[in-house]
Amino acid sequence: LASVEVDIGGLGEGESMTVMWRGKPVFIRRRTPVEVEEAKEVPVSDLRDQDARNPNISATEATDANRAVQGREDLLVMIGVCTHLGCIPLGQSGDYGGWFCPCHGSHYDTAGRIRQGPAPENLAIPPYNFPDEATLVVG
Ligand code: FES
Repeated sequence: LASVEVDIGGLGEGESMTVMWRGKPVFIRRRTPVEVEEAKEVPVSDLRDQDARNPNISATEATDANRAVQGREDLLVMIGVCTHLGCIPLGQSGDYGGWFCPCHGSHYDTAGRIRQGPAPENLAIPPYNFPDEATLVVG
């Protein structure tokens, strides 16, 4: 399947869901304002991977805003595959309140950026768009 349509109308603040796209899990999370604030406060210079890894925008700096799309900054959409050796990270865990990969201990923050452990890159972001308020299309 080239793309997958997801009904996100019922996804409340602080809730997550996982869908499959091209054989990989895609994490969708409607972040809380606190999670967004935490991610915004991190200087890009503190990040191991300073690339936003977001094909949906032209900017490349890994700020929190650049990890999402304009107007939907609360929604994080990421490929749920650790950038170390491909395990599936656990949500809302780890030392930075984001995702934790138990295979070798990589910690990602609330914007899915790598903060600690062996993973070299931020969690990748797939192409996506919102045809309407309650619908997300991945791919
Ligand atoms: Fe995630 Fe190694 S595969 S830390």
